[in-house]
Amino acid sequence: MQLLIAALTAVALVLMPVHAAKEVFAHMIVGNLPEFTLSDWEDDIRLAQASKIDAFVLNIAAKDPSNDKSLDLAFEAANALNFSLFFSFDYLAQGPWPQANVTALLQKFTPNPAYFKHQDNNNNNAGRSRPLVSTFEGPDSAADWPSIKAATDAFFVPDWSSKTASDAAALAGGVVDGLFSFNAWPDGAANMTTDGDRAFQAALAPQKKAYMMPVSPWFFTNLPGFDKNWLWRGDELWDGRWRQVMEVVPDFVQILTWNDYGESHYIGPVRKKELGLFTTAKAPLEYVKGVTHDGWRKFLPFYIEVYKTGKVPAEVEEGVAAYYRTAPALACPAGGTKGNNVDFGQTEVAPEGLVEDSVFYAALLKSDEGVTVTVSIGGKQQTGAFTRAPAAGAGTLGVYMGSVPLGENTGDVVVTVSRDGQTVATAEGGKGISTECENNVQNWNAVAV
Ligand SMILES: *[C@@H]1O[C@H](CO)[C@@H](O)[C@H](O)[C@H]1NC(C)=O
Ligand SMILES: *[C@@H]1O[C@H](CO)[C@@H](O)[C@H](O)[C@H]1NC(C)=O
Ligand SMILES: *[C@@H]1O[C@H](CO)[C@@H](O)[C@H](O)[C@H]1NC(C)=O
Repeated sequence: MQLLIAALTAVALVLMPVHAAKEVFAHMIVGNLPEFTLSDWEDDIRLAQASKIDAFVLNIAAKDPSNDKSLDLAFEAANALNFSLFFSFDYLAQGPWPQANVTALLQKFTPNPAYFKHQDNNNNNAGRSRPLVSTFEGPDSAADWPSIKAATDAFFVPDWSSKTASDAAALAGGVVDGLFSFNAWPDGAANMTTDGDRAFQAALAPQKKAYMMPVSPWFFTNLPGFDKNWLWRGDELWDGRWRQVMEVVPDFVQILTWNDYGESHYIGPVRKKELGLFTTAKAPLEYVKGVTHDGWRKFLPFYIEVYKTGKVPAEVEEGVAAYYRTAPALACPAGGTKGNNVDFGQTEVAPEGLVEDSVFYAALLKSDEGVTVTVSIGGKQQTGAFTRAPAAGAGTLGVYMGSVPLGENTGDVVVTVSRDGQTVATAEGGKGISTECENNVQNWNAVAV
């Protein structure tokens, strides 16, 4: 077996692209995509490549009858476009994966050139190319993984965030090669901190195990059929969290998510054919319909370059992105949505206590010198300010952040950044702000343009 793996590895080194950390992935819920065609997969892969994302993490639930067809299409598209994919076995959606099924799927797909390989330079592995494998939960099945790894040479980085980092790192004799944290959203009205990330690094670094850090723009779910109805604060989260990536410098970053519509943290496009779960889960409204998140991809090439090189580039294309909820918090009944979730050991609060009624914006600029921000809501103009400069300070190249209150204004939102009277960039074209509530329930999702 060892010889066989060594031989396969030698072939692999010649034929397949191998990757060294630092890499950026996006989480893709395969269960949302039973209607996806080859060209849908190719469209999403092209968008991810334009954003400089290295691979999709394919979240697959046990027993999902759509997996076989979806995985075949996904790998066909990835091969055609030189993109990479790897698996996250979801142990919660439909119960734990049987060990034999995990091994069989990995043996089928990891030899595929499009399956993401991590170049493992740790622990005397001398750059061995190993298929990256993750999970969503499943610590109770930890004992399956020594055998799965022996059969597949998996570089195993599960999300076992229901355990502490040090407990998860020790499970099954320390079977993990690294850990992914799913803790991407702040508690209450606070800003997200790096405390959780530092705890993972502190538990993993002494054992030379990898840390995969989560980055997410938003969280809102209202799916009564799945008993889910809560909100976490996304104000200032996306751009603030990327700054934290530069401080933490994890081995890998995973964006949560590309297409999890049910929890409103998608950064990929919204297609009608992907929204079946809103019917299945009896949602009071399709809160992602017409709610683009495209703006959250705008600065990814910049953030990913800075993360990978550790340096701010000398040149950038300047731009502006904006995000906002489409109604003031008190304009519509809350729809039973709670702020926070007691199941995560948090104190429930009223949702309007978590979020500000504001238009948030971020501008990628060579410098903020001579720059003004104007926010128009339904034609009413406000002048904005930057409340956060890049890490190197005002006047430097990087992302500047700020916000203005919604006030009583309704209508289309246009955010314009100008320098010395000349327009540098605008963010516009998203659904406007209104106090009329679809189905008489608050939509706590946000538009990002
Ligand atoms: C595991 O694989 C077997 C054989 O292909 C299949 O019959 C079974 O449904 C699979 N179980 C799960 C939970 O996916
Ligand atoms: C394929 O993608 C890898 C990055 O994942 C890149 O290094 C390589 O040059 C690409 N090959 C082709 C033929 O485009
Ligand atoms: C979050 O951080 C921003 C930027 O530093 C700051 O303006 C804001 O007051 C903070 N909010 C909270 C609730 O701490």
